[in-house]
Amino acid sequence: PELFQPLRANAIGFDLAHSPTLARIDAARDPFRDHRWEAAPLLAGEAAPQDPVAVANPADPSASPGTISNASSADVATALDQARPWQAPLSERRKVLLQAADLLEARFGEIFALLAREAGKGLPDCVAELREGVDFLRYYAAQATDMPPAGIFTCISPWNFPMAIFTGQIAAALAAGNAVLAKPAEQTPLVAHLVSRVLHEAGVPQSALQLLPGGGEIGAALTADARINGVAFTGSTATALKIRAAMAEHCAPGTPLIAETGGLNAMIVDSTALPEQAVQAIVESAFQSAGQRCSALRCLYVQEDIAEDFTRMLTGAMQALRLGNPWLLSTDVGPVIDETARRGITDHIAKARTENRVVAELTAPDTGTYVAPTIIRIGGIGELEREIFGPVLHLVTFRAQELDRVIDAINATGYGLTFGLQTRIDDRVQHVCERIEAGNIYVNRNQIGAIVGSQPFGGEGLSGTGPKAGGPNYLLRFSAPHQGKAET
Ligand code: NAD
Ligand code: ALA
Repeated sequence: PELFQPLRANAIGFDLAHSPTLARIDAARDPFRDHRWEAAPLLAGEAAPQDPVAVANPADPSASPGTISNASSADVATALDQARPWQAPLSERRKVLLQAADLLEARFGEIFALLAREAGKGLPDCVAELREGVDFLRYYAAQATDMPPAGIFTCISPWNFPMAIFTGQIAAALAAGNAVLAKPAEQTPLVAHLVSRVLHEAGVPQSALQLLPGGGEIGAALTADARINGVAFTGSTATALKIRAAMAEHCAPGTPLIAETGGLNAMIVDSTALPEQAVQAIVESAFQSAGQRCSALRCLYVQEDIAEDFTRMLTGAMQALRLGNPWLLSTDVGPVIDETARRGITDHIAKARTENRVVAELTAPDTGTYVAPTIIRIGGIGELEREIFGPVLHLVTFRAQELDRVIDAINATGYGLTFGLQTRIDDRVQHVCERIEAGNIYVNRNQIGAIVGSQPFGGEGLSGTGPKAGGPNYLLRFSAPHQGKAET
């Protein structure tokens, strides 16, 4: 590997407490308030014509952001035939990725508008998405070396970070010189199309980056072919297991699968925790992005001695949250992604209601796919049968002498993505952090929003294969030496 790596800094972002900055954002977003984007596959060969379908706006069913013509199986065949690793010298690849980062930053108004209208993202989340996307481009450009590429990499991304994760996977695969077949989530193809166009405009050849929008069947076709030399996947654990099975059947032995998946993330608050700090951290971790982060807090353990007062403070803070139009800065909680998601989460809440376990809940707007933030009492994390991917916090109380049993219960879920601890006892920090099995552990702060380059992000067990995204080992997995080695 090269010893010299270019200097890199994380994106500055936007200060949303600064009114001239807000005015600048408004002026840049406004032209896209009613804009309709049109997207289609981006192939090195010709795409088979498909009828465009409307993309949904989760906040407002009457205001679709545009249309998508999805890829067909013929397009998958074309993309596989036409894919060619990016053979430009390392210095050129770096230059192009850095140029793409600059171009994306310059288009912040359009990107913020699209993220709000296609993914229901509030302004703070839009800022974080753009920052993370451009950070990935700059970080992987800096990390890239002259190691040989794996070949053709399929990159499959989820809707909950439709820009950041989509961009991050592609940036890594391209930085390593691969040809990329990118399959964005079916709910969010428009922002993926915008990012792909920008990468082409910056100089990535069409044969090195092809976009295949569509559903799981397109993803499945792109992971079940012997010509694929690696897959980067972010999404649910269930889908990752299907991809692993498809790759085992169709791809060469040892073809790398980098899977970043779901979590049943917990936080422990002991009786020495600073209550105001803990409450703020919990509200952000559980309800920001309407709870639609893989890193989000799902199960909160509060020490019994403080539980009554603490729960009162927590429900008070939750009740101050405002649900509404994600376009507005006054909105704290936007919609969930679609009706299927809404129904799955509200069914879970309804069951808890019939069992008299709802501690507090807000009211959701009656248009769009909103779910009201809710706190549900449960006996322990083992009662959660699945990841509830929305603004629902499960609350458990524990006695001081049960701490180790709590840690065991959290580890026993088999997931291991994020974990939070609120305490002022140094030895306890040491003890808990040594025993807990999670990829990202946060002490006395929230447990979302890992920063590229400083907080490499990724889980263990059912939460992912590693290596961590935005960390120093990530690119190694996109390079040829891993071909033929055992999957970890
Ligand atoms: P999902 O698994 O339903 O879909 C993810 C992607 O996989 C989509 O592009 C989808 O079209 C594709 N897909 C579906 N079936 C496929 C198949 N058989 N073969 C190949 N591709 C297929 O997940 P989602 O609902 O889009 O995203 C939410 C999930 O993602 C949550 O579980 C969340 O925890 C997880 N997530 C994890 C991370 C992380 O870094 N660990 C980050 C974000 C989201
Ligand atoms: N990287 C994202 C976070 O930390 C998922 O919230």
